[in-house]
Amino acid sequence: MTRGPPGFCIWLTGLPSAGKTTIARELLPRLTARGWYADLLDGDEVRRGLSADLGFDRKSREAHAGRVAFCAKLLARNGAIPIVALISPYRTSRAAARSEIGRFVEVYVSTPVAVCEERDVKGLYRKARAGEITAFTGVDDPYEPPDHPEITVDTVRLSPAESAEHILRELARQGWIPTP
Ligand SMILES: Nc1ncnc2c1ncn2[C@@H]1O[C@H](COP(=O)(O)OP(=O)(O)OP(=O)(O)O)[C@@H](O)[C@H]1O
Ligand SMILES: [Mg+2]
Repeated sequence: MTRGPPGFCIWLTGLPSAGKTTIARELLPRLTARGWYADLLDGDEVRRGLSADLGFDRKSREAHAGRVAFCAKLLARNGAIPIVALISPYRTSRAAARSEIGRFVEVYVSTPVAVCEERDVKGLYRKARAGEITAFTGVDDPYEPPDHPEITVDTVRLSPAESAEHILRELARQGWIPTP
């Protein structure tokens, strides 16, 4: 096995349609191409696999984030790089994930709500505005932006590929991965 950096977690947080999944998918092959074992824990996919019993109220979202953090911890402590793409709207859940995982890089995908709503990849902003769904983050459920994320990504200014490159540069600059 290729020796890489010790495991750590890259945790992408941001509003629905901010770009978390898109950026994570750009990032993943760039890490594996360097011989490291990385994997994507995407909120939607993990919900289907691990949290199908949970809804979207605060307690459920916290429980879901806790399960994702647990999986990420196992991967990171085995030398892998889990990339988490999860709205994770509450500071307390992200702080809990940070303290459980330890080696934790919080990446704030900082896309403003108006831009996210314009993108509306899954049509859920429209449904939330129409009252067809409730407790939708950014519309009638809060999103608490990180106060001190290790990395912030501006998807208005950067393309998905540029966003991934920005994250890689910052990871190297902050000593999480060696400079290529
Ligand atoms: N720099 C960028 N980074 C990421 N996505 C971008 C960027 N610029 C434009 N986009 C577009 O924004 C959309 C982001 O959707 P994506 O599914 O990645 O969001 P998400 O944060 O995973 O949302 P959700 O929380 O609902 O899963 C995509 O259509 C993508 O093409
Ligand atoms: Mg997503």
